Amino acid sequence: MTKKLNVLIVASEVFPFAKTGGLADVIGALPKELEKMGHDVRVVMPRYYSIDKDKLGLKYLDHPLGTPMGIVGEVWCGVYEGKLPNTNISIYFLEHDDYFGRAGIYNDENGSGFLDNDNRFVFLSKASLQLSKMLNFKPDVVHVNDWQTAAIPTFLNTTYRHDPMLGEAASLLTIHNMQHQGNFYPGLMDVLDIGWEHFNFLSLERDDQVNLLKGGIYHSTLINTVSEGYAKEIQTGEHGWGLEGVVRERSNDLYGIVNGIDYDEWNPETDKYLAANYSHNDLSGKAKCKQDLQEIFGLPIDPNVPVIGMVSRLAKQKGIDILAEAIYGLLDFDIQIIMLGTGEVWSHFYFGKAAHYFPRKMGCYVGYNNELAHKIEAGSDFFLMPSRFEPCGLNQIYSLRYGTLPIVRATGGLNDTIENYNEETEEGTGFKFNDMSAHALYNTVGWATYTYYNRKNTMNKLIQQAMSKRFTWEDSAKKYENLYYRSVEKRLGLDKYKQDIGVPVKQLITSV
Ligand code: ADP
Ligand code: GLC
Repeated sequence: MTKKLNVLIVASEVFPFAKTGGLADVIGALPKELEKMGHDVRVVMPRYYSIDKDKLGLKYLDHPLGTPMGIVGEVWCGVYEGKLPNTNISIYFLEHDDYFGRAGIYNDENGSGFLDNDNRFVFLSKASLQLSKMLNFKPDVVHVNDWQTAAIPTFLNTTYRHDPMLGEAASLLTIHNMQHQGNFYPGLMDVLDIGWEHFNFLSLERDDQVNLLKGGIYHSTLINTVSEGYAKEIQTGEHGWGLEGVVRERSNDLYGIVNGIDYDEWNPETDKYLAANYSHNDLSGKAKCKQDLQEIFGLPIDPNVPVIGMVSRLAKQKGIDILAEAIYGLLDFDIQIIMLGTGEVWSHFYFGKAAHYFPRKMGCYVGYNNELAHKIEAGSDFFLMPSRFEPCGLNQIYSLRYGTLPIVRATGGLNDTIENYNEETEEGTGFKFNDMSAHALYNTVGWATYTYYNRKNTMNKLIQQAMSKRFTWEDSAKKYENLYYRSVEKRLGLDKYKQDIGVPVKQLITSV
């Protein structure tokens, strides 16, 4: 019997409570598998304005929670407890109206980051640790995600290093995105309140600013990214966003674990949002979904024209600049393009206009709509992701499951999860390109379109191959479990841990 772990997971978004991207999906799904393995997992996130306490039946914990925030003083919040859907896992929501009682999660309605994002997320980080103490929950590992919670490893190594509840806790920092680092004015050191000696080039300081992600990379016990490819890439100048040197320093402690997907949520056989369900044995339901999608977007209903779908945060990361350059060329092909997204404001107008000029060829929905995202996955023939970088990417994995062949740029997780179509052997699950250019994107969509029209049998084969792929959380959660054990070993030292679990740690650890 291996020792079961107490795991505290802290994140700024968790599906289905609040979501802007894949981080929410990951934190909504991973704990379920960890629970099945017998670990005691608790999740903490903010109670954003949009989270309806009554509808979710959240329970108010009697004590308000106090968190010392340096020169800001003691900050008090309410705590609500709920459960992750279909589990017994407690998720705690921190309620603080000034910090979290607004419509956006990170940005205002114009897409600009809130000016107090520093204090908001330092608060989330520190209050989560305070909550753990209040609950008498002694974590073996605190699992933190991206810059918003990256102050936690720093706090564990400083403020709480000798705390009886938290001093021994190991930390795992998962980097879902290296571009966003939490860069703030140096005065934030007085809010962190850990001493100015930590404002140095090894740890929290970068370019005379406080960089919370950098502090997390320096202080966390172990680090991982969400694909093996991206773990390599962030050690390079091209993808390290200036922190590649700091990451390389920790390369011995850096791992890549590809995300799984939640097949309860994303399964064409059971998906409740679809016009018809389907499986690899019988794709007739997929044809109905295509028709439904064409109807929703007011496009000609035609089963024979290839539909290329896209669901994305409209950010430069996602390659919307090369797509903008290529779009009128693409609209020359005999295809239909369907786009769902929100993000950079120029792109709303740009792609909206393209759809306006070509109403029989393109549909564009600017906004966030989960139901429509499911319908696009099911009703499209191809799914386009021309990302500049992609730490993992979930949509292409959903697409595989829905028999919608991904057209992707070969980067990060896209490169790891999609196998390029080989015309000779007919192997593959999608279409890939390397160059970050409109030209390469255009050619590859052309290649997919050609295949659709001229190689029907091959298309069917590729669809079957795609649908047979599985990226389960069960597999990925085992790897996280392994990293948790490793991090505990590293934090406490082998001997101490050996005593706790009664068997040599090495026997627990297979390669990740
Ligand atoms: P990222 O986290 O970088 O945005 P991922 O591919 O990991 O990329 O995850 C994106 C997630 O967000 C997917 O679940 C996708 O369906 C969803 N999503 C993105 N944009 C929208 C949107 N406009 N409406 C609905 N869902 C969206
Ligand atoms: C980030 C990345 C995306 C990844 C997601 C979940 O938002 O951009 O590639 O899938 O996190 O890990």
